[in-house]
Amino acid sequence: MKKDRILVTGGTGYIGSHTVVELQQAGYSVVIIDNLSNSNRDVLDGIERITGIRPDFVEADCTDMDALKRLFADYPGIKGIINFAASKAVGESVQKPILYYRNNLNTLMNLLELMPDNGVKGIVFSSSCTVYGEPDVNPVTEQSPIKNATSPYGNTKQISEEIITDVIASGAPIKSVILRYFNPVGAHPTAEIGELPNGVPQNLIPYLTQTAMGIRKELSVFGNDYNTPDGSCIRDYINVVDLAKAHVLAVERMLEDKSDDKIEIFNLGTGRGTSVLELINAFETATGVKVPHKIVGRREGDIEKVWANPDKANNVLGWVADSTLEDTMRSAWAWQCRLRERGIM
Ligand code: UD1
Repeated sequence: MKKDRILVTGGTGYIGSHTVVELQQAGYSVVIIDNLSNSNRDVLDGIERITGIRPDFVEADCTDMDALKRLFADYPGIKGIINFAASKAVGESVQKPILYYRNNLNTLMNLLELMPDNGVKGIVFSSSCTVYGEPDVNPVTEQSPIKNATSPYGNTKQISEEIITDVIASGAPIKSVILRYFNPVGAHPTAEIGELPNGVPQNLIPYLTQTAMGIRKELSVFGNDYNTPDGSCIRDYINVVDLAKAHVLAVERMLEDKSDDKIEIFNLGTGRGTSVLELINAFETATGVKVPHKIVGRREGDIEKVWANPDKANNVLGWVADSTLEDTMRSAWAWQCRLRERGIM
């Protein structure tokens, strides 16, 4: 049976595209809106090759209210929204704060404003563990304190959570699930879709796989003098397909009224902390490919260690991140190899 129609903003992006695949495989019909600022149309081909279904696609910017209104008119019956559309580079956000506040906040406010009149019941919002800053205690639960944001990007996530909370408190007839992602990595096991950053990657895994491919000379490990067992920073690396599956459960929860709460927050992580050096080692073990690397100084603004307590997502959402780190590393490498085959990278 065909399930409801879902609008996925930023659906050609990294996490968005993996989520569109899972939604379609679960029977939902999907409309994507994306301005292609950090992705491209070929992603639609990848989604179609995996699922056999080409999602509806609107090339437009979610800060454009008229475009959104047209979309709701052209695609009636949208019951839920998953909002991935946002700028996400921490360093760039420090250089271009207005771009970040405008993109990330106007997109969210436009969607929230249009939902009631268009009969949209709920919105899933992509938040981040960045809201916890440098935690006093690990693993972090959803009740762990929110720390002052250290970048405009991080601040947009905090403000967005507050905007959703205030709008729902005002009596808007909508629900929301806020998902705080830890560090999403890896690619679809088919290697049809994956992460494709523009220019020199800032994040660890794309830099690592490009180094393993010989595109970059060596990976810089930012610091080995942290208060961690091997001195490098610790994160909770979560497989992107596992992460995508949580969105399907979140949508079901809202649309099928599985909770009386109008707003719910879940940490999405594995519950395991992995250091940068351990991750490099896991990649080399899983793929048999060496990653030339050197230790350099700390990167400004980095958190020393953060990992999730995912109990609430496990017990309430019924979601578990069950991919192994080795499988995830193999998927990231298979995707990098596919990009090479296609002459892209
Ligand atoms: C950051 C943001 C996070 C955001 C994510 C997406 C913070 C605190 N975190 O995550 O909110 O969602 O980016 O862009 O703002 N590393 C290296 N060498 C590299 C690259 C990274 O050693 O070339 C290390 C970093 O020091 C860090 C780890 O790898 O310890 C992960 O870095 P990265 O992938 O950039 O993610 P975060 O900084 O954790």
